[in-house]
Amino acid sequence: MTITGDEPGATVVPYENGPLLIRGDFTLMTPDGQVIEPGRATVALCRCGKSAIKPFCDGTHKAIGFRAGSTRDSDPPRD
Ligand code: FES
Repeated sequence: MTITGDEPGATVVPYENGPLLIRGDFTLMTPDGQVIEPGRATVALCRCGKSAIKPFCDGTHKAIGFRAGSTRDSDPPRD
């Protein structure tokens, strides 16, 4: 399956050694329900944990040598 970015809803793409890219129709919220305005239609969310502007990526993952794959490492959980 190829993602074009025109799909309904949102797509989440884990970039190798980098952030999660979110595109489409999404709402970003804090755990207590406050909306976080992304300010753009596509956002990069930090998954290295070191960004100074969490939940957004600020590029720090490159400086710290963050390593993570872009594909699923194991089978998805079953119900
Ligand atoms: S993934 Fe980019 S700063 Fe964390």
